[in-house]
Amino acid sequence: MTRGGPAAAALALALVLAGCGGEDGGADGDGAPPELTVSGAYIPRPPTADVAGAFLTVENAGGTDDALTSVTSEAAGSVEIHETEGTTMRQVSSLTVPAGGSLSLDRGGSHLMLMDLPARPAEGDTVPIELHFRTSAPITLDVPVEAANHTGE
Ligand code: CU
Repeated sequence: MTRGGPAAAALALALVLAGCGGEDGGADGDGAPPELTVSGAYIPRPPTADVAGAFLTVENAGGTDDALTSVTSEAAGSVEIHETEGTTMRQVSSLTVPAGGSLSLDRGGSHLMLMDLPARPAEGDTVPIELHFRTSAPITLDVPVEAANHTGE
């Protein structure tokens, strides 16, 4: 039965993978791909052109975790992903966007750091950025520059 062998093996593998996925997914994991939307993006007007923080929320309506893995901008020399620990911040390689949840980049917490801006952005400007994810397609957006005391609410 040379034709039955591979089919049976494939079926067995599919069952193993299905069982595995169900357990790894946890209570929220239904195996559906991540579905990301970005909201509330803003950049408080920075005091200089050297660096600017950017804040936003990424929601994931899907059934699988995703992760923000890098950010690019044609308006900045580079963009880093930062976490805040106490009063210091450090660069991280990715941040998880949990299935059925959200990743919040807030003041005092995780944020994007735009480095080497060619000029200090003015209130009312927009800065284009592109978010890259482990699974989902990149998301581009124009982030508005707001008054430095803007709270994001
Ligand atoms: Cu930072």
